[in-house]
Amino acid sequence: MKIQPITFFSCILFLACNQTDKTSETLSTANTKFDKELMVNAQGLFQPLPPRAESADYPITAEKIALGKMLYYDTRLSKTGNNSCNSCHNLATYGVDNLPFSKGDAGKFGGRNSPTVLNAAFNVAQFWDGRAKDVEEQAGGPILNPVEMAIPSKEYLEKKLKAVKEYTDLFKAAFPSDKNPLSYQNIQNSIASFERTLVTPAPFDNYLSGDSAALTADQKEGLKIFMQVGCIQCHIGVGVGGGLFQKFGLYVDYRTLTHSTTNDEGKKKLTNQESDKDVFKASSLRNVEKTFPYFHDGSINDLKQAVVIMGKTQLNKDITDTDASKIVSFLNSLTGNVSDDVKIMPAKLAMK
Ligand code: HEC
Ligand code: HEC
Repeated sequence: MKIQPITFFSCILFLACNQTDKTSETLSTANTKFDKELMVNAQGLFQPLPPRAESADYPITAEKIALGKMLYYDTRLSKTGNNSCNSCHNLATYGVDNLPFSKGDAGKFGGRNSPTVLNAAFNVAQFWDGRAKDVEEQAGGPILNPVEMAIPSKEYLEKKLKAVKEYTDLFKAAFPSDKNPLSYQNIQNSIASFERTLVTPAPFDNYLSGDSAALTADQKEGLKIFMQVGCIQCHIGVGVGGGLFQKFGLYVDYRTLTHSTTNDEGKKKLTNQESDKDVFKASSLRNVEKTFPYFHDGSINDLKQAVVIMGKTQLNKDITDTDASKIVSFLNSLTGNVSDDVKIMPAKLAMK
């Protein structure tokens, strides 16, 4: 996720030189040159998605994926039976519920916007404040969270699932060498294995792999502006973000522009450090077209407005309406393909 200094330098150089180059060449050669340099620079900053988010510690198997998918969709994982993971991270709507805040198991609302689970396994850490180190650790949180799924204890859920014959078989198949396959830890591990397969290749990936025609002219211009104004200080790498934490509001308090109704101070709530005030994960921008509303509190509905706010709060720049529209065009090239298979609830649950 680190920017290589040389790439970054040549990128800045290219962006500066590109303006003057054009006059001395015919438009078409200039366009070809623009295209080529843009791609090389983009390839230095972003990477195409691999097929899955592999982990050496947690090898993915077909059995774990099948079990994980079933658990992901199962409302038995909540106390009242109202919520599954899919309630707030609906795979038919890009892994989100499109609400500012999500409705918990007993009908109460949480205090943060649900981020998408798609490609989340690539993020440097999970949650807006990074309090879980990976998807394995993260999956244990919502189940016991008193608002979200409200299961009283790990043992309570283990017992509840052990009463379902289907699960005892599936856990045995997924964790064949475990003495106690149906454990809370293995619930987490299998859900996470499923999440590690939720990868959504998009036109931008084809572009990064060398297909210049994968982006429209507007999207290429948007990409150029995205790099030029400095969005890449925080939104780079395989996720086009998701790789680091930053203060939301480096130049302007975000609340003055988002009109947020909650006073969320991000990482400071965890660490009590003043330097962590308003520090949040710089979101991955994959599928951002579809994951509205935006920001940790879902305070902004419109992507173009979110882009303009970012320009002001993070870079102290007034992005023009035209430039913001082009950036949005580029961001739309990050909308990926969610495989039909994952969008369908497992048949065994549909009959429950
Ligand atoms: C009631 C709604 C709700 C339910 C149910 C729920 N989540 Fe979430 N999820 C959220 C919210 C809200 C956040 C952000 C919370 C925060 O950052 O403090 C979140 C964060 C996450 C993240 C972090 C993504 C990132 O990029 O940081 C993942 C992964 C995730 N949830 C997966 C799951 C899984 C797996 C389940 C089922 C075991 C689940 N969630 C159940 C609402 C929900
Ligand atoms: C210095 C770091 C930094 C820079 C530069 C930056 N961002 Fe962000 N970006 C963040 C952080 C942090 C968040 C999460 C803010 C929050 O909701 O708490 C974010 C969130 C976003 C979101 C909302 C994503 C979502 O799912 O809610 C969009 C869209 C976005 N950035 C686009 C941009 C664009 C476009 C630029 C350039 C104009 C840019 N950002 C520049 C750090 C940065």
